[in-house]
Amino acid sequence: MHIENNLSKKIITWYDNNKRTLPWRVPYNSHQKLYYRLLSEFMLQQTQVKTVIPYFARFTKEIKTLKKLSTTSERKILKLWEGLGYYRRAKNLIKTAKIIVEEKKSILPKNLIDIKKFPGIGDYTGNALLALIYNQPRLALDGNVKRVFSRILNKHEKQLNFDKIIEKNKKKLFYSKRNADFVEAMMEFGALICKPKEPFCGTCPINKICKFYKSSKNIKLTKTIKTNKKSYNIFCYLNKKKQIGLTKKNNLGFLRECSLPIMKEKSNKHKFKSWNFLCNYKNSISNKKLDIDLYYKFSNKIPKDLNWYSLHNNKEFIPTFTKKIFKQVENLY
Ligand code: ADE
Repeated sequence: MHIENNLSKKIITWYDNNKRTLPWRVPYNSHQKLYYRLLSEFMLQQTQVKTVIPYFARFTKEIKTLKKLSTTSERKILKLWEGLGYYRRAKNLIKTAKIIVEEKKSILPKNLIDIKKFPGIGDYTGNALLALIYNQPRLALDGNVKRVFSRILNKHEKQLNFDKIIEKNKKKLFYSKRNADFVEAMMEFGALICKPKEPFCGTCPINKICKFYKSSKNIKLTKTIKTNKKSYNIFCYLNKKKQIGLTKKNNLGFLRECSLPIMKEKSNKHKFKSWNFLCNYKNSISNKKLDIDLYYKFSNKIPKDLNWYSLHNNKEFIPTFTKKIFKQVENLY
């Protein structure tokens, strides 16, 4: 697959003139750079830039260095992460910070194989960090960047081997030597110009080298998203002291962070005779459609793997979805 010579130059020029001022892009010393980049890349996994900005600001105001992060309790970090979702990222971030500070003298290793051993770092975040921190010639292949390439070549993402394309064209792609800017410029360009729906092709600085733009029959690149229906039951043990039974043992994918006991797949309501049905939630999380029945019972006893927790305790981290349920059950008192 052939990429035109001046792609990176044009994208970087566009970036110089149009980039957003984001808090993790401010000038910094090398320690702060590692901390800011690590934190922002973890937060940006699965979350949009505009959502991350206030969380990043709050987090860095409270925790000023990587060293501090490595010694802060998980409880406090989760509280700062509260509302951002996908809390496993926060847990992985603490573990990775600890390894870097305690075993690597606060220096990020310079190769992908080593940093992919750290919790929460895969190809995408690993490539982004090595390019951003060490100016290595790498691209982080997120959805935005894949879309840019697939439009330039006017091919479906499924038809493309991105690693091969990058390897074959590396001299041209990394010609400017501004690799840190290029990795970020590609993500920014995909998010702001080469958007999934209604891209700004008319004013696009690379439309002359874009096969999608030039083609009279642009192929449809937006994926059809399959929805995936899931049904669950959630059980609330309540006692007279306005406490609720929470667990740390849910292991159900995206509901893993819900700290109430959950049973996957709804079964016949009559099966839960000792439980009272409270309400049904229909909710969507990315491509998943959730259908959840909520049950409760008043009881002084709870199973071993649950702990009582006050419905009014604001100090502890509580996932957003669990908080929603707290509001529902409060009405029972
Ligand atoms: N998405 C992930 N990392 C990003 C970055 N550094 N800039 C913009 N969008 C991103």
